[in-house]
Amino acid sequence: MYMIVKNIHLTIISLTFIFFIINFVLTIKGSDKVNNKILKIGPHILYTLFILTFIYLVSVINLYPFVNGWASSKLGGFVLYILSITFALKWAKSTVWRIVSFISAVFWFVMSARLGYADHLKVNNQDTNVYIEFGQSMLTLIC
Ligand code: HEM
Repeated sequence: MYMIVKNIHLTIISLTFIFFIINFVLTIKGSDKVNNKILKIGPHILYTLFILTFIYLVSVINLYPFVNGWASSKLGGFVLYILSITFALKWAKSTVWRIVSFISAVFWFVMSARLGYADHLKVNNQDTNVYIEFGQSMLTLIC
């Protein structure tokens, strides 16, 4: 099951990237096709499904954002990827800013993907049980 979800994770994020490239090209060209329903709603559905996949994955391997550095960095990369996409497609008022945001989106996409393969950083050094056991044994000693 884990491997299936991991592959879905990769497929969905790749699809968001493809959608982004198509939307970006259409926006730069000033094409009306950018208002196409599938191009508009598709990415939102994909982002929602993607969030479900990473919630499942982090809970299985027990590496949570805000607790573990690797998971926090991946979440940060994802948020910046989405923000850059929103900038490139909606908020940017000139082509220069659209291109800057495009480069930013590609950068955060690549960084998050690279982090996905950085096994040496997937270290769970937040073993709270150790601290609880230590506290309990100290209390036992004192009492
Ligand atoms: C732009 C965003 C993201 C990209 C491009 C991305 C990409 C990847 C890649 C390439 C892998 C490695 C797959 C493999 O080992 O075969 C991966 C795995 C994984 N990702 Fe993401 N990911 C992103 C966002 C996130 C977020 C936000 C989280 C959660 C905080 C997350 C959690 C995970 C987990 C738990 C794994 C499995 C690690 C393992 O099994 O060792 N990912 N991701």
